[in-house]
Amino acid sequence: MMRLAGKCALITGAARGIGLAFAQAYVREGANVAIADINFDAAKRVARDLGPAAHAVALDVTRQDSIDQAVNEVIDTLGQIDILINNAALFTAAPIVEITRQDYDRVFDVNVSGTLFTLQAVARHMIARGQGGKIINLASQAGRRGEALVGVYCATKAATISLTQSAGLDLIQHGINVNAIAPGVVDGEHWDGVDAFFAKYEGKAPGQKKKEVGDSVPFGRMGRAEDLVGMAVFLASEEANYVVAQTYNVDGGQWMS
Ligand SMILES: NC(=O)c1ccc[n+]([C@@H]2O[C@H](COP(=O)([O-])OP(=O)(O)OC[C@H]3O[C@@H](n4cnc5c(N)ncnc54)[C@H](O)[C@@H]3O)[C@@H](O)[C@H]2O)c1
Repeated sequence: MMRLAGKCALITGAARGIGLAFAQAYVREGANVAIADINFDAAKRVARDLGPAAHAVALDVTRQDSIDQAVNEVIDTLGQIDILINNAALFTAAPIVEITRQDYDRVFDVNVSGTLFTLQAVARHMIARGQGGKIINLASQAGRRGEALVGVYCATKAATISLTQSAGLDLIQHGINVNAIAPGVVDGEHWDGVDAFFAKYEGKAPGQKKKEVGDSVPFGRMGRAEDLVGMAVFLASEEANYVVAQTYNVDGGQWMS
């Protein structure tokens, strides 16, 4: 049985990586999916590959006019939004004394403001519609504790966990479940960038950091985007109706809480 039949989902940052895997899984489970990304060309390619259940939407989560326009466009095209995945994010790394205000603002704008104000716009629609909904934020193991070189990104993901709790508690009165997924280390283009940061700051050879983190995961390897889709389908389904304001680790055993 398809677990998301008839549901409409908006997934930010779905043009590649984990968001793309979520979109593929949701289409398999019977949902119509809006592939919303700042990289609109890539979103269009993804939507074309996924077929008639997928629709590309241009979205820059750092701009309120773009959020409002994208949410309205998805409602016009799909009829409603039952599920939002706040997945778009940027990574950055630097020693504390080298962090710049510009980089801090850039990453907080996408990871925290983008998450909050996309959630807000979709929650307003869900409340007005009166049929509840499911909102899933992408946190990270990086939000569970700080890391010497990753201060800004870690802080954005800790903020995401906190916002998930506050929004979860506020919105459950409307039947809107807000929860988060905290992945560990997931291979893909994002982690190619992380690897390059560590090559720069720790003098590691390209690929070395990836190998080290993969070896350190209790499961025995880095995560793959597909490892996360089971949780993303569960949290979007009716089976998660009593799950409120939680952040779930899906990380091969790296973090326990
Ligand atoms: N890959 C990992 O190891 C890992 C680990 C923990 C958490 N996460 C989180 O999972 C989520 C997805 O990660 P990923 O590895 O697939 O990342 P990714 O970098 O591969 O994909 C991010 C997507 O977001 C889009 N995006 C960037 N800025 C945007 C903006 N302003 N508006 C709209 N879209 C924008 C990008 O174009 C891209 O398609 C992120 O929230 C990330 O922080 C990833």
